[in-house]
Amino acid sequence: MKNKILVTGGTGFIGSHTVVELQNNGFEVVIVDNLSNSYEKVVDDIAKITNIKPVFKKVDLKNKCEVSEFFKDNHDFFGIIHFAASKAVGESVKKPLPYYENNINSTINILEMMIKYDINNVVFSSSCTVYGQPDVLPVSETAPLKKAMSPYGNTKHICEDIIDDTAAASNINAINLRYFNPIGAHESAFIGEYPQGTPNNLIPYLTQTAAGIRECLSVYGDDYNTPDGTGIRDYIHVVDLANAHVSAIKRMLDKKMKSKVEVFNIGTGIGYSVLDIIKTFEKVNGIKINYKIIERREGDIEKVWADPTLANTELGWHAKHNLDDMLRSSWQWECRRDKNEG
Ligand code: WQD
Repeated sequence: MKNKILVTGGTGFIGSHTVVELQNNGFEVVIVDNLSNSYEKVVDDIAKITNIKPVFKKVDLKNKCEVSEFFKDNHDFFGIIHFAASKAVGESVKKPLPYYENNINSTINILEMMIKYDINNVVFSSSCTVYGQPDVLPVSETAPLKKAMSPYGNTKHICEDIIDDTAAASNINAINLRYFNPIGAHESAFIGEYPQGTPNNLIPYLTQTAAGIRECLSVYGDDYNTPDGTGIRDYIHVVDLANAHVSAIKRMLDKKMKSKVEVFNIGTGIGYSVLDIIKTFEKVNGIKINYKIIERREGDIEKVWADPTLANTELGWHAKHNLDDMLRSSWQWECRRDKNEG
């Protein structure tokens, strides 16, 4: 069906926000997720926002039998947005094999079903980690890919290669979106980033520190070659990132692709340091953050921010939210999440 989209990992942070934007744009959405790092209640939370409850099926995409069982009765999709993956950079360094097994096998199983049922459009959740530490900033899609600093990043690089080769040998068209640092939450605060256990990423750890759940935020190093010595990243509002996926699907629907596989950087083009983030959070939310500087984190790159020109011109997509919006919405989500949990 022309407007039916399968979203793998659709109860996750980026997936759930993308389901909302797809529904807002008139698409019918089916979600598959194994709930290994999310909760089924997110399906109801999406419905609170859009008044449309997406179909949800619990499927472990690395399990070939479960995947073929699902597709036997569900395969009339225009396209698939493939988010489902393990994504904690630090954890992947400690436990690489589950990352390779999950992230690569899931992608292979999805591509096999696409060929079997003639589903010819896939948008793949890739990552700026495929660039490693770029030599030139801002980083564009033509920058050389480097050995990723983590098994997580390497799985994204390998999956892009698998998609390239499969597209060349089939009717599959693919758009790989290379995300920078997704943060923030939907303005309703019904959905947001919901990490299980101790957060690996900066923003959830920061908001949990602000909420008193964590004692103190550790800043990983202030001896980088940056203006204030702390690491620089291109933070992008998760709703802007979600809308980039809608733009990619529309590009496929409108048959505007210029090659069978296209790659786009999805970032704002603006880099902020860790201390910039802390100071802006304090300003926007009127809360003092307790933090300390400690040694660098293994595997971190120093600085990265996107050249988003290609996505701006070809996808007609632009990031609309600024850092204040991102950090205000992150805090609103944290406050609501804690209340719901309390
Ligand atoms: C950001 C900055 C840390 C935690 C993420 C995702 C990865 C990919 C890219 C999509 C760095 C510093 C962090 C903390 C800190 N996204 N930091 N104290 O490592 O850039 O990677 O974005 O694919 O999946 O993980 O994000 O939020 O961990 O770190 O000082 O407690 O904050 O050193 O400079 P990262 P992050």
